[in-house]
Amino acid sequence: MSLQDDIDEILIPEEALRARVRELGQKISQDYEGKEPLLVGILTGSVLFVSDLMRHLTIPCQLDFLATSSYAEGTQSTGVVRILKDLDQSIEGRHVIIVDDIIDTGFTMDHMLEMLKTRYPASLKVCALLDKAPRRVRYVPIDYKGFVIPDKFVVGYGLDYAGRYRNLPFVCVLKPEIYGQTRQTPTAPGRTSVEGSPVR
Ligand code: IMP
Ligand code: MG
Repeated sequence: MSLQDDIDEILIPEEALRARVRELGQKISQDYEGKEPLLVGILTGSVLFVSDLMRHLTIPCQLDFLATSSYAEGTQSTGVVRILKDLDQSIEGRHVIIVDDIIDTGFTMDHMLEMLKTRYPASLKVCALLDKAPRRVRYVPIDYKGFVIPDKFVVGYGLDYAGRYRNLPFVCVLKPEIYGQTRQTPTAPGRTSVEGSPVR
């Protein structure tokens, strides 16, 4: 059995990811010239992205991780954000860049921004590889953005479905029957609307 068999459509190929991540790294290096930002990777989805992004920073930087959970096992957001692992260090006076894989409803990032703001960072910015803009419920300022994607549940390059597929080197959509195996399909009628509170 190969992971490849489960793929319906590749949305962002490997080369496009590589090129865009390099551009984001160059932009951050320019913007933070003379500073030493603290990258805060959100576990677990951002791990591949943040490690590639760091390689393109030409300025000194540091890395820490924060783990949150707003999802059960499937594709449905609960709107409830829990901190599962806090930062190891103080961010007071630091230039913080939160690095996440994808902003979907925006609940997770909105919550993290509110929480980290209370710790007096010198600055606080958001870097997200993917912006699933059609699904946004909470406004989130995305200072560094990789790609805007349509309302599809994607996996690969760190993003998972039920813990799997993070190791795929591209961003893709799985065959509908794969999503259907454990949960309702993410494209099923009657799913979360952006007006309503998420029922995921
Ligand atoms: P939000 O709070 O709805 O913005 O959800 C953000 C988090 O949900 C992301 O950091 C991901 O971990 C997860 N997520 C949202 N959409 C997807 C997707 O299409 N594939 C995989 N994970 C997703
Ligand atoms: Mg995440």
